[in-house]
Amino acid sequence: MLSYFKFHHIGIAVFDIDSTAKYYISAGYSKTNTVYDPVQNVYISFLTKDGMPKIELLAPKDETSPVNKILKKNGVMPYHFCYEVDEINQAIADLKKLHFVLINMPVRALAIENKKICFLFNKDVGLIELLEE
Ligand code: NI
Repeated sequence: MLSYFKFHHIGIAVFDIDSTAKYYISAGYSKTNTVYDPVQNVYISFLTKDGMPKIELLAPKDETSPVNKILKKNGVMPYHFCYEVDEINQAIADLKKLHFVLINMPVRALAIENKKICFLFNKDVGLIELLEE
């Protein structure tokens, strides 16, 4: 974790976007259109409501989607927090000093206005995502 992190969203692995989203929509959340992200091989949709943390739902496209591992082990569950940073490469360098391991090189995410994202893992913190503003 870094002092300049700005919270962006909670990522939840789900079996089916609409089956989960309906609970949030009935509670007043707005849902973005579901898009397919070929880089992560998942379907993605965001749920937003004033004053509440943004939620990202990620559902598998097929058996090769990375979220399947989480779903098989735990079912539907939050599995990452995402933080916005100004300079993703600087943030990666800073996190490596804190013993975070880079899971993937920064890639542009279709679901998030084509902004650069990457994932890092630390055994005491878990999985986090970075998003370059
Ligand atoms: Ni995310």
